[in-house]
Amino acid sequence: MKSIASAPAKIILFGEHFVVHGTKAILAAIDKRVTVTTIFTENKTIKINSELGTIEVPILSSHEDVKNEFKPFVYLANKIINSEPNVTGLEITIDSDIPIGVGLGSSSACCVAAAASISELFNKLSSEEILNLSIEAEKTIFPNTSGADCTVCTYGGMIEYDQSSGTRKIESTFQINLVIANSMIPHSTKSSVERVSKFKENDEERFSQLCDLENGLIDEVITAMKNNDSTTLGLKMSENQEYLEEIQISNDTLRNMINSLNQISLGSKITGAGDGGCIIALVQDDNMDKVPALLGKDKECFSAKIDTKGVVWGMIEE
Ligand code: MEV
Repeated sequence: MKSIASAPAKIILFGEHFVVHGTKAILAAIDKRVTVTTIFTENKTIKINSELGTIEVPILSSHEDVKNEFKPFVYLANKIINSEPNVTGLEITIDSDIPIGVGLGSSSACCVAAAASISELFNKLSSEEILNLSIEAEKTIFPNTSGADCTVCTYGGMIEYDQSSGTRKIESTFQINLVIANSMIPHSTKSSVERVSKFKENDEERFSQLCDLENGLIDEVITAMKNNDSTTLGLKMSENQEYLEEIQISNDTLRNMINSLNQISLGSKITGAGDGGCIIALVQDDNMDKVPALLGKDKECFSAKIDTKGVVWGMIEE
C-alpha cells in the first residue's frame, strides 16, 4: 500500500505579518505542488527522502533531535505511530516543484501533504483534521505561525483568513493576472516574524494603527474584487507594500524589483515573510512579456494560476 498526497504552494495577496497579530489576510493557492508518498517498512525506522537529503531515525525518537527541515515529518510520523502500536516503520518521500524558503509556502504545503499522506495509511481524516495536524507539525519549526499558509494549502482557491473568526472562501470570478518574481534571496520566516514582534513591542501604538489600516484595506479589496476593479486592487497592493516597508521587512533588492515593474504593473508588493523571497505584481495581459527584461537576468519570474483543488490524497495498491 502506498499513500500519496499533494498540496499547493501559496501566495499572500494582503496581510502577511499583520495576520500573526490578529488582522485579516487574503491568500491564494497557486499551481505549484509538493507530493508526499508514504509506505510501510519493516525497518523500525522513520525514513525521509527529500531534495534536502535523506534521514533515517528509529521510530518514536524525538523530532527535536533532527534537523529543522525534517522535524515536521518526524513529528507527524511519531504522532500517528503512537496511536498505532503495530507499525514497524514508515518511509516518507517528498517531491516538490515549490521553491524552498522564498515565501511560497513550501514548508506549509509539505506539512499539509505529509499530514494527509501519513494519516491516510491508517484513518480517513477530514480536510479540517488534516489542517489541524499540519499546523501542529509546522509549529515544530515555526511556533508563532498564524496558520494562514497551511489553511490555504489545505482548502485551495482564494481565502480570507483571520485567526479568531476562521476562513472564508472568496468565490470570485475576477481574473487576476499575477506575476511572481523571486529575488533569489532565501529568508527565514521565523526570524522575520520575530523582528516584526520587536517592532510591535517598541511601538505598540503605531503597530496597532497599522493593523487597523490593514483590516480596512482588506475590506476595500473584497469590494474591489466584487466589482472586478483591478485598478483599485493594484493600488491596494502598493498601499500594503508601504505598511510592509514600515515594519521593515523589505530591502533594496525587493524595492528595486517593485520599482522596475512600476511602469507596467497596477500594483506590486512582497508576498510572504519578506527580507528576500518573492514579490507579486498585478500586470495586464499585454504587458506580461515585458516582465523578464524589466526584472533582469538574475531573477526568476512566472505567472501564477490559482489552484482550486487544495490538498488531494488517496491510496494506491502496489
Ligand atoms: C508567512 O508566509 C506569512 C507570515 O504572515 C507568517 C504567518 O502568517 O504565520 C509572515
